[in-house]
Amino acid sequence: MADRLSLDITYCMGDSGDRYCLSGKMLDRLTPRLEQARRAVLDAAGTGMLGWMLLPNKDPQEFLDYAAHYKGACECLVVIGIGGSALGTIALSRALLPFFHNELSAAERGGRPRLYVLDNVDPDETAALFDRLDLKRTLVNVISKSGMTGETMAGYLVAKQRLEAAVGVAALKDHLVFTTEPAGSTLRDIGEALGVRTFDLPPGVGGRYSVLSAVGLIPAALTGMDVRALLAGARDMSEWIAGTQGWDNPACTFAGIHYLQDTGMGRPVSVMMPYSARLRDVADWHRQLWAESLGKETDRQDQLVNIGPLPVKGLGVTDQHSQLQLYMEGPDDKIVVFLGVKEFESALTIPAPGPEAEALSYLGGHTMAELMWAEQKSTAWALAKRGRPSMTITLPRVDAYSMGALLYMLEMATAIAGELYDVNAFDQPGVEMGKHATYALMGRPGYEALAREIG
Ligand code: PA5
Repeated sequence: MADRLSLDITYCMGDSGDRYCLSGKMLDRLTPRLEQARRAVLDAAGTGMLGWMLLPNKDPQEFLDYAAHYKGACECLVVIGIGGSALGTIALSRALLPFFHNELSAAERGGRPRLYVLDNVDPDETAALFDRLDLKRTLVNVISKSGMTGETMAGYLVAKQRLEAAVGVAALKDHLVFTTEPAGSTLRDIGEALGVRTFDLPPGVGGRYSVLSAVGLIPAALTGMDVRALLAGARDMSEWIAGTQGWDNPACTFAGIHYLQDTGMGRPVSVMMPYSARLRDVADWHRQLWAESLGKETDRQDQLVNIGPLPVKGLGVTDQHSQLQLYMEGPDDKIVVFLGVKEFESALTIPAPGPEAEALSYLGGHTMAELMWAEQKSTAWALAKRGRPSMTITLPRVDAYSMGALLYMLEMATAIAGELYDVNAFDQPGVEMGKHATYALMGRPGYEALAREIG
């Protein structure tokens, strides 16, 4: 097994005199419930909306074959999707593609396409993108689980019109690929009508749990990420979680500590702060996962609870000079989750300064990696000094294996937290309500009464 990630909760624990501390007793008291939660999730694997737990064991060959067909033939890949249909690809591409991938030549990219993700409906951004692409060498991956989301489908309609104008009706299907539910999806119907290759989002895989399905893996395979290593990391993590109980289990620990900090210590805010530019967008992906899964009006008994911890995105070291003052001295309602790495690709030595910059000689000879680690360590220490808790997840390095393990661990932690909070972690009624209101305002037939209600 490759190096595993680790999770350190030292700065959550302490003597009863420490303001940030959780005591061993508090952890012990939660242990049976935590185990019950872990068991409930494991026992339900593959059923209902827990189909995503089977994804690490799926063979990705059809995705790799599809991607091989486009290698060298496609200059740009545009992903159109929103929420869970886009955030996984954004996180994976930032973590696993070379920095400034889109600025590399075709040879430097190994014949893989540039990647653009449209996850908004800003007209200027959308128009600017389609104006500048060579559409004759562009593939557009439209991703929507439901196959109906207005934002994504509007993007599709614009893409289709632009592609048709550039390549003609006959060639259109070679420039499109869809990912959606196997049945009952408008996008699937369109795919069938136009003969567009359409990949299934398997049943029981909600949008925000879909990164290891065709949703994340088609863009990953097309841009040359190591899809098999990604799944291997997720698979090893799933075995770790299945084989380990309580506080030695990273998903249980992540969920349990957050639950105790929220419900026992009045700290509902979780700030995810990666100390690696590559991990920056994992915080964004996790924000959706945690917020949509746990922010609920009612519990599973239909009792009104209006519950849910608040995930916040930070970035080390950038946000040390922006948000940290608040985290350190503002309301004591947060736990910080540091995401660190043991090994950067390039250590990058800081040059010794010349005589004109004597004052900087303490930096010279160190590496940028040492500076990054020092900043992360000192921030965790300083927070603890102020009585503010944190936990640290450390990846051996940012590679496909570690990313698979990290994303899967966070998905499992969310499912386990759903059990602890006793909410359905797999629906999103609030999001759906917003979608319906948009349909109504845009004049979709069947939504007239809602349109009148909104006014
Ligand atoms: O997690 C979810 O299910 C949602 O956030 C969806 O990802 C988002 O609303 C987009 O939906 P769809 O993929 O159906 O277009």
